[in-house]
Amino acid sequence: MVYDLVIEGKVVDLENIFEARVGIEDGIIKEIKKQGLGGERNINAKNSLIFPGFIDLHVHMRVPGWEHKEDFSTGTKAAAHGGVTTVVDMPNTIVPATNLERILEKKKLAVKKAVVDVLFYGGVSKENISELKKMSDEVIGYKVYVCESTGDMYLPYEYVEEIESEVSSSNKPVSFHCEDKPMIEERKKKLAGRNDPEVHCDIRPAESEVIAIEKVLSLTKSRVNICHVSTKRGLEIIGEHKQKNKLLTCEVAPIHLFFTRKDIAEKKNFLKMNPPLRSEQDRKSLLEGLMKDKIDFLASDHAPHTVEEKENDVWSAPSGVPELDTYGSFVTWLMKMGVSPQTIMKMCSYNPAKFLNLNKGLIEKGKVADITIVDPKCPTKITSENLYTKCKWSPFEGIELPGKVVYTIRNGEVIMENETVVS
Ligand code: DOR
Ligand code: ZN
Ligand code: ZN
Repeated sequence: MVYDLVIEGKVVDLENIFEARVGIEDGIIKEIKKQGLGGERNINAKNSLIFPGFIDLHVHMRVPGWEHKEDFSTGTKAAAHGGVTTVVDMPNTIVPATNLERILEKKKLAVKKAVVDVLFYGGVSKENISELKKMSDEVIGYKVYVCESTGDMYLPYEYVEEIESEVSSSNKPVSFHCEDKPMIEERKKKLAGRNDPEVHCDIRPAESEVIAIEKVLSLTKSRVNICHVSTKRGLEIIGEHKQKNKLLTCEVAPIHLFFTRKDIAEKKNFLKMNPPLRSEQDRKSLLEGLMKDKIDFLASDHAPHTVEEKENDVWSAPSGVPELDTYGSFVTWLMKMGVSPQTIMKMCSYNPAKFLNLNKGLIEKGKVADITIVDPKCPTKITSENLYTKCKWSPFEGIELPGKVVYTIRNGEVIMENETVVS
């Protein structure tokens, strides 16, 4: 049998890494063998790691309304560049995705332009509770902001229990952005005289995340996911609650694993995000937690804003950083820090596929042939010219990461090679 595509390299499985050839036909993995498979196209990636396609559960594609920051074409090309074959888009656009019509509209736009699979969260506010069930078939879950961030989505704690019971019949997860609004409001007033970029970290301190995580977890009991955990204490509290709630999961974003608030002196508002950067102790604890399988997902929180917007003063510059183009090269940095390829595979492919209930996330016969091939030893300096994101900058600009994604394959088709999206 001559397959459409055969890839040779080191397959990363849940427990092991083994050298093999992977035969793909009609977008499906058909056979995995040590030797002897031939294809119409053969990719020899002997020195590289073959991962199931990376799945990023947290991106902001900005459509509709903020197309000057990103759109489904540029954003999904940035994903393919970073080895990401499925993304989940957040609802906090200028016209928020808070009812069925708006989700369907976004889907239509995505289908026309996206080069990777795009799935959607439905947004929650106190005004749209009656809409949540109606959209359940079209969304993978619901997103709640318990404080204000980019966009105007906000849900007071008092509504959290009602939301959980309203969506419980759908068995879809509810993901929370956790920072404490009362504390942030108070700090804003207190620190109004400061104009240095680090003031953002003091307005939204570690305690504000800790309070919000504690509050949300005390109010919920089922499929809850905590977005972009940034603090040591936050991760500990989640660990404690995981003992009682086996359905509880959490994400961490690359930026919180790599940078600390000290880096803001150099990169200014280009490192401004919510939750903000924290201390070295927090950063180290997240990395340690990741190595001990305490973090379920590596989610980019790709949140593009333009250079002009970021050059504003600290009070008016928007929060958020683009992180899709660099997702795969960042993963090679994690491996260099001692994270095993198997842990990467769990956080970036297997766990998110399970969370989304997809026939993906494993290099196994019968799975969809979404595959990310990573060369861990091919140092790559991040420069703005090589990015697909429309905003054309990266927090990692000027930094050399130890490796990169060499091929991204979606449904058995190569969509990125030689740093170039070919789809
Ligand atoms: O920094 C952030 N940016 N945090 C968020 O919660 C939203 C995001 C965005 O959409 O820009
Ligand atoms: Zn968030
Ligand atoms: Zn986000």
